[in-house]
Amino acid sequence: MYQTGRLHTCGKSKTIHYSAEKDNQFVVSFLDSATSYTYKKNALVQGTGKQRCSISSFLFKLLESRGIRTHYIDNNEHGQMLVEPLEMIKLEVIARNYAAGSIVRNYPVQHGHPFNPPILKLDMKFGNDPMLNSDYILAFKIATEKEIKVIRELAFEVNSILSSVFKESGLLLVDFKFEVGRLENGDIIVGDEISPDGMRLWDSETLESIDKDVFRFGTGDLFEKYQEVSSRLMEELV
Ligand code: C5P
Repeated sequence: MYQTGRLHTCGKSKTIHYSAEKDNQFVVSFLDSATSYTYKKNALVQGTGKQRCSISSFLFKLLESRGIRTHYIDNNEHGQMLVEPLEMIKLEVIARNYAAGSIVRNYPVQHGHPFNPPILKLDMKFGNDPMLNSDYILAFKIATEKEIKVIRELAFEVNSILSSVFKESGLLLVDFKFEVGRLENGDIIVGDEISPDGMRLWDSETLESIDKDVFRFGTGDLFEKYQEVSSRLMEELV
C-alpha cells in the first residue's frame, strides 16, 4: 500500500490523499462505487475499484508510450494510483465514434450511427454537467482559446489511439469521457481516470455492451464486464 497523508479530495468514486512518502505526489484510491446521474443509480459493486485502477493504469501507460502525457506515476494491486499534482480543468471531455446515450436521447440520430470524423463534446463539471461551447468556456474562464484548441487536439489523438487499441481486442470504442489538468508550467495533460466506468464499449461482432450500460439498465454484472474488458485488453497487448 502507498502511505497516505492528509485527505485532498473525496469524490463519489475516488479519494485523493497527499502522499506521505513523496512530496508533490498524490495517492488516488479507487472506490467500489458505481453511479449513474442520468438513471439516478448509486451502488457498491465489489472489486470494481481495483478493476478501474488497473485498467486506467494500463491505458495511461499505453498513452505515455505513444507520447501522450498523463498524470500517472505508478499503481499497485490495492486499487491505488500514484499521480502528479494537476490543476484540474472543470471539463468533461467526451469523444464519440458511434451514437449512443445522451446524443440519441437529445438529437435526431439513430443508436449506433457512426461518426467519421469522431465528434467531441465539452461538458462543464458542475451540477448535471451542462454542455458548453467555446463562448461559454471562455465566458466562465474555464480555459483559454489556446487551451481549448490543445484540449480538442489531445482528445482526437487519445480517441484515435484508444480506438485502435480496443479494436485489436475485438471492441468498438463507442464513446468515452476523460479529464485534463494543467501542470505548473501550464502544459495540459490527461488526468483523473480512463476506464470502462466512463466509456461505452461494444463487442465488434455482436455489438453487445461490455460497459457501464449493463449497470445503467440493470442488464448484467458490472464486475464481470469490467473483467472481460481487462482480460481482452491485457491478453491482447501485454
Ligand atoms: O451520457 P453520455 O451519453 O453523453 O456519455 C457519453 C460518454 O461519456 C459515456 O461513455 C459515459 O460513460 C461518459 N460520461 C462519463 N461521466 C459523465 C458523463 C459521461 O463518464 N459525467
